[in-house]
Amino acid sequence: MAFLEIDRAYKSYGPAWDRTDVLADINLQVERGEFIAIVGFSGAGKTTLVSLLSGLAFPDKGSVTLEGKTVTGPGPERGLVFQNYSLLPWLTVFENIALAVDQVFPKWSADGRQTHTEKYIEMVNLTPARDKLPRELSGGMRQRVAVARTLAMEPQVLLLDEPLSALDALTRANLQDEITSIRRQDDKTIVLITNDPDEAILLADRVIPLTRGPRATLGPSIPVNIPRPRSRAAINHDPVFKATRNEVIEYLLKSSDRQKTALTKKLVLPDILPEDLDQPRILVGKRRPRRRSEQKIEKVEVVQ
Ligand SMILES: Nc1ncnc2c1ncn2[C@@H]1O[C@H](COP(=O)(O)OP(=O)(O)OP(=O)(O)O)[C@@H](O)[C@H]1O
Ligand SMILES: [Mg+2]
Repeated sequence: MAFLEIDRAYKSYGPAWDRTDVLADINLQVERGEFIAIVGFSGAGKTTLVSLLSGLAFPDKGSVTLEGKTVTGPGPERGLVFQNYSLLPWLTVFENIALAVDQVFPKWSADGRQTHTEKYIEMVNLTPARDKLPRELSGGMRQRVAVARTLAMEPQVLLLDEPLSALDALTRANLQDEITSIRRQDDKTIVLITNDPDEAILLADRVIPLTRGPRATLGPSIPVNIPRPRSRAAINHDPVFKATRNEVIEYLLKSSDRQKTALTKKLVLPDILPEDLDQPRILVGKRRPRRRSEQKIEKVEVVQ
């Protein structure tokens, strides 16, 4: 059994008469210390998938396990960084992180907790902004606080739900480098959710495409055979990078084409026309359904 595993999981939302099947037959195995990336279209069900891993949502069918134990709710061993900065606006950078540290390590001394908090502020290069409120920070800085807060809880698994998608390209590149260096120092198990194949390939050991929803499912695991450290500049010219990117993108496009065809089939109308309620109903018993294919169209030209 793998360290972190999803086994034949299904997830739908909504009441029985209007249900959306978001995820279908999701199978995932992540080994300890692995860095995997899941790439998918917007709205495919990526956040839903990461919610199953974090224990914020549960599959309708199937299971999610960490070290063989079923996930029954959120836990400190699985740290989640949300898509949108989720800081408490009335607390400073230090206080936002300290709050999490105090909760997870209540038995440590106050000094120990403070040093620990400061270590993670330093790790994401935010020491100069230690006493600032979230509204005084840029988007990239806020997201770094969110990453530091999650790391400071020392989770075994880091779940990153598009942590960089709201950032501009330069800040994004900066934070990608930070994630890589955190990985090198800490050797954590990381699941990165992203809509950017390049980001996935630059950072992860393998990339798994998530098909377009509804009933989104995971595609094949595509290994990234590019040695580390990977350089953003050099990687663009690397034939292995290009081939991997093609494989990921082609799979995503192919799977979304398949889904479009299925949808067209569904929309074929029956060979029948609606009843004309203006007609007298005397022939009701004998009347048979009017067929669209039998409809005779007469063209009448009117000369004025
Ligand atoms: N709590 C919910 N109740 C009902 N429907 C939901 C709920 N959460 C998500 N959905 C629906 O499930 C589908 C997948 O949503 P999800 O947020 O998982 O997608 P996503 O891939 O993370 O999208 P994005 O890239 O925009 O973040 C969407 O159609 C969404 O409307
Ligand atoms: Mg999402």
